[in-house]
Amino acid sequence: MARRTILVTGATDGIGLALVRRLAGRHDVIATGRREPGKVRDLFPESVHYVRADQSDPKAAAQALGRGLLEHNVTKLDHVVLNAATGHASVPQDETPDTLRDTLDVNLAGTLAMAHILYSWLRRGNGQLTLIGSTARKGAPQFACYAASKAGLHGLARALEEEWRGTVRVVILHPGPTMTGMQEKVGLKLGWAHKWFIRPDDMAAMIEAAIRAGKTPRTLSFVQYLSGAAVLGRTIR
Ligand SMILES: NC(=O)c1ccc[n+]([C@@H]2O[C@H](COP(=O)([O-])OP(=O)(O)OC[C@H]3O[C@@H](n4cnc5c(N)ncnc54)[C@H](OP(=O)(O)O)[C@@H]3O)[C@@H](O)[C@H]2O)c1
Repeated sequence: MARRTILVTGATDGIGLALVRRLAGRHDVIATGRREPGKVRDLFPESVHYVRADQSDPKAAAQALGRGLLEHNVTKLDHVVLNAATGHASVPQDETPDTLRDTLDVNLAGTLAMAHILYSWLRRGNGQLTLIGSTARKGAPQFACYAASKAGLHGLARALEEEWRGTVRVVILHPGPTMTGMQEKVGLKLGWAHKWFIRPDDMAAMIEAAIRAGKTPRTLSFVQYLSGAAVLGRTIR
């Protein structure tokens, strides 16, 4: 299996971190996140390059990423996984234009800016862009702004798929509930229900297998987890 150059955003926690750790031994991996480089040193294997890119300022994040790739002498990318996301859990009356804007900046405008800056690297690699959406895109209680951002991401993926056809393949994957710190970060108390969520390592394995399969759009939820044990462990070609 050929070694690939793979970039993962939102790689400092949860699914992104599990994916980076999973890929790092077999591929050249570039990880991004909002944290200072000094605070992520122990998270990744030594071979992983880290570029700080805070998507709450989409334009600045894209510029920082472009500079980081040049500094690390990355000339092409085979795979990019745009995974970074945030959210606010709240009852509808507490949702404001500000919470919507924060969520859209990171999840949608930030992802769009990253996709655009990475296009030329992906094109040189004849590569594939994978966007991480959510099953919440269809609407989820207490997650209106997050759901809106993920529904927007779905539309963005379909548009890029058409626009970049023949140069860069575009795939969107929609994970279901996963046992990360995201729910707590966004202010949602789940209690025992969290125990039924898919583990980040298993979700990372499902994502890797889905990237390899290249089908889009694709849901990666509990049903696929139970019925797809056979696909876990497959690797990106
Ligand atoms: N967990 C679920 O149940 C679930 C379900 C469906 C879809 N998803 C999707 O799966 C992806 C990963 O989520 P997760 O559950 O792994 O969440 P997570 O553990 O909170 O990880 C999210 C990652 O995004 C980063 N991030 C947050 N704000 C950022 C910003 N402004 N700029 C750059 N990076 C930022 C986080 O950084 P920090 O480490 O600094 O927080 C972290 O590395 C997301 O796209 C999420 O929407 C998750």
